Amino acid sequence: MSEAVEKVTTWDSLEGEESMAEGHEPAWQSLIGYIGERDLSDKRILDFGCNRGGFLKALYARLPYHEALGVDIAEDSVAYANDHKGEIPCTYAHNRVLANEKNSFDLAFSHEVVYLLPDLVAHAREMRAVLKTGGAYYLAIGEYAENPLWERWKKTVAEFSPVPPQTYSLQDIAKAFQENGFGVSVRRMVCDKFLPYDASDDKYLLNPMELVDFMTRYMMLFKMTAV
Ligand SMILES: C[S@@+](CC[C@H](N)C(=O)[O-])C[C@H]1O[C@@H](n2cnc3c(N)ncnc32)[C@H](O)[C@@H]1O
Repeated sequence: MSEAVEKVTTWDSLEGEESMAEGHEPAWQSLIGYIGERDLSDKRILDFGCNRGGFLKALYARLPYHEALGVDIAEDSVAYANDHKGEIPCTYAHNRVLANEKNSFDLAFSHEVVYLLPDLVAHAREMRAVLKTGGAYYLAIGEYAENPLWERWKKTVAEFSPVPPQTYSLQDIAKAFQENGFGVSVRRMVCDKFLPYDASDDKYLLNPMELVDFMTRYMMLFKMTAV
């Protein structure tokens, strides 16, 4: 990563990150439902791009794990996550700590993160290095070239994000992982339930159909298995 984006305090504003966590909760629950491994009691877990730590809390509540690490470039968001983690066996840190984690994790997750990474191959290699052989990386993503909403959303993200958004295709993602030590599988991540909708908030969504389409058609879940 370049020096220019080395120091990031938060990814979005305080309000933006609060509202993102609320908006992502139904998707986190859906993602947890798709995990094949249902007994995580002896597993070490990584959440890449954890922001304020909500996913690992939600995961622990449903599938208690042995230990987890959440990493993010946003230093204040990580500090918030640590201050609010409660009693769960989990630590949050800047992602530079991954340099010291080799063959460390049984499972890894990222939810809505890889479109912010400048180098998919570097990400695939880093995730392969930190995962044990046979471990899996569940990569959930809704922001990619084939999603017709992305062109508009990318402009919104570019206005506030300290790291520029990228447009990758699903094939770009699959290739980067397949060529760097992973077996790739993929499915839609369908979140077909009542979804909170705020008609006064047009940051991303202009009507309820966009929300429903996004959550039932465009969210994709890759399972990358470390070979
Ligand atoms: C859209 S948010 C998603 C946060 C969280 N995964 C969720 O589901 O709510 C993207 C997150 O990725 C983080 N991020 C961006 N670039 C990153 C990088 N190179 N390494 C680690 N985290 C990164 C941002 O700081 C932000 O917290």
